[in-house]
Amino acid sequence: MPSLTNKKILLGVTGGIAAYKSAVLLRALQSAGADVRVVMTQAAQAFVTPLTFQALSGHAVYTELLDPTQEAAMDHISLARWADLVLVAPATADFMARAASGHANDLLTTICLATASPIALAPAMNQQMWFNQATQDNLRRLTQRGYYCWGPDEGAQACGETGPGRMIEPEMLLQQVETFFCPGELDGVNILMTAGSTREPIDPVRFVGNRSSGKMGFALAASLHDLGAAVTLISGPVSLSNPIGILCSRVETADEMRSVVLEHVENSDIFIGVAAVADYRPRKYTGEKIKKNNEIQTLELVRNPDILAEVAAREKPPFTVGFAAETEQVEHYAEEKRRIKGLDMIAANQVGMDEGGFESDSNALVLLWQDGREVLPMMTKTQLAQQLAGRIAERYHART
Ligand code: CTP
Repeated sequence: MPSLTNKKILLGVTGGIAAYKSAVLLRALQSAGADVRVVMTQAAQAFVTPLTFQALSGHAVYTELLDPTQEAAMDHISLARWADLVLVAPATADFMARAASGHANDLLTTICLATASPIALAPAMNQQMWFNQATQDNLRRLTQRGYYCWGPDEGAQACGETGPGRMIEPEMLLQQVETFFCPGELDGVNILMTAGSTREPIDPVRFVGNRSSGKMGFALAASLHDLGAAVTLISGPVSLSNPIGILCSRVETADEMRSVVLEHVENSDIFIGVAAVADYRPRKYTGEKIKKNNEIQTLELVRNPDILAEVAAREKPPFTVGFAAETEQVEHYAEEKRRIKGLDMIAANQVGMDEGGFESDSNALVLLWQDGREVLPMMTKTQLAQQLAGRIAERYHART
């Protein structure tokens, strides 16, 4: 039986260029068995015509709040009651602002007020608009009221800029909807994670660090949260905002990261070390800025504690997952790491290539566990995170 059989989805389309992708989304939802009705805002109709959605869905498209003929077919209250899920995709900054303020000045916002069903947003806008404090405040207000927020994705935008703000792809949105209707693979599971890099200070202005962006860890945290897990994320300094619904703690050094991990690990069912923790730190911190007095300058480094190994070596360890970034013999070195550190699973990737790795938006992974392996091919980090979260859930349940 298709995954969304008998599910009634009201697809709200607002005025962004991503509106054309909503036609693909509509088809995907229908193919999965959902019964879909479409509501379009006026601005959405500047991008795609209602006829497109009507032809694809086989139903009239709702556009007006106070149109007697439309209201006679199914009025806004009936539509609000009919839906099992209201999915607004794309959700523009303007729509989010109006919904956050409780406006009822068009059909879609009115339905959002009148429905007792869950509402999910797939935001789509220019990255600067997404980062704008007003949008972030609106988002917080909406999620506090129980709205779900799926995306946005990062990457090249229609406006020529690059960053977060792209609507997540229709097939990923379909996955979100499917997960939403059969949730809870990780319901009640506590997950502790590290992400980003650490900075080991040399003097007040310099540090030893690495190129980890934190993207993979943050995306994974969000995907695990989507599966129902309670996620605590300990992150080094990265320029990413805290994923919604996740308890975040920011640290700077490996020592700080270790302390915060140890504070939380007792209650954790799963520990995932995604952080690129600096293996070494300067033996001594110089209180004043070091001057360039010498032709050759030596920096003495000492080993940092291995947080992941320490967690895995506990008397009653959580299900422990590590990451390995390798430039060669990826599987061989990763499996060795998994065995030596006593991990339940390791996710290995090749770094130092053109595509994938630390600062890239996409990546590929090889997953290794006691008696199995799986390759997750090159895809965006958001997609990869969703797949990886599913595999971690699977292996965790298999062990427990
Ligand atoms: N890790 C950790 N604490 C450290 C170092 C690493 O928790 N001090 C974790 C990372 O979060 C990651 C895994 O261990 O999950 C990486 O293992 P590591 O042996 O550090 O990999 P590399 O740094 O790639 O090792 P090497 O440089 O020896 O190849």
